[in-house]
Amino acid sequence: MRLKVIAGRTSGLLAQKISEILKVPLCDVRIENFPDGEISVKIRESVRGADVFVIQSTPPPAENILEILLLLDALKRASADRITAVIPYFGYARQDRKDEPRVPISAKLHADLLQTAGANRVLTMELHAEQIQGFFNIPVDHLYSANVFVEYFKDRDFSNYVVVSPDTGGVKRTRAFARRLRKEMRMAIIDKRRENGESGNEVEVMNLIGEVRRKICIVFDDIISTGETVIRATNFLKNNGAEEVIVCAAHPLFAGDCVSKLLSCEDVKKVLVCDTIPLERDKFNEKIEILSVAPLFAEAIERIHKGMSISSIFN
Ligand code: R5P
Repeated sequence: MRLKVIAGRTSGLLAQKISEILKVPLCDVRIENFPDGEISVKIRESVRGADVFVIQSTPPPAENILEILLLLDALKRASADRITAVIPYFGYARQDRKDEPRVPISAKLHADLLQTAGANRVLTMELHAEQIQGFFNIPVDHLYSANVFVEYFKDRDFSNYVVVSPDTGGVKRTRAFARRLRKEMRMAIIDKRRENGESGNEVEVMNLIGEVRRKICIVFDDIISTGETVIRATNFLKNNGAEEVIVCAAHPLFAGDCVSKLLSCEDVKKVLVCDTIPLERDKFNEKIEILSVAPLFAEAIERIHKGMSISSIFN
């Protein structure tokens, strides 16, 4: 089966890097908008019988989801043999269960749409909740950003480091990252809850599980959206005696004035993010560093294409 790689418009740069590593040119595709804004898609070369990987992250706007759905539909109707939706950032993942009345399960709807449109497999990274894999009835290969960050930190002496989960929801993810850095890596957890303060108003109370005094803390999260979570975590760690705080997160959504907040927060020493979501580099300085997931995705695509193990990437 021929290998074909297609880039959606959200992931054009990343797809270009992946195609260069794979030494497979990007498939000739035209994606445009009609004057009223509707998306128009045309695959301009034959994909009949091919093993096609469509690369498109799905951060807001929701048009990005629609764009990959249209690409999948076009490929299905053009008789591609196998279609893999490569979604470095899988959006609409935060509502993943019905934990209160009258809410949607957006992640499940997103998964259903991809399958209906024609995806035979999914390749993604750092899902907001791992169980979202179960929303699909097709194989899902789930990559971890830890691979990329571990490479960045390699060769460091970790004797003075501690890896910190900024909330209890991220403990499992953070523990896995810590273990990948070093077998006996120290870990701390910030436990946030809302309680009634003295005046009766709700206040956010933060408790620390673990020791951070005079330590270099690596705060590890999946998403930075407004930046509030990592900034508050950083301020709290510094108030508890941390020497330095480095923030790592796979998906830089950077909503609103997040970038300026991160840049002006003196307690945040460095922010490391991945290129799962395109960023305009000229909007920030070297305090925010972008690490590329292209080599990892290229290797995963090659392995899927050749029917080889993906789990061995993590060893
Ligand atoms: C929460 O469950 C997530 O893991 C992130 O901590 C959260 O989405 C980050 O959002 P923000 O940057 O707006 O605090």
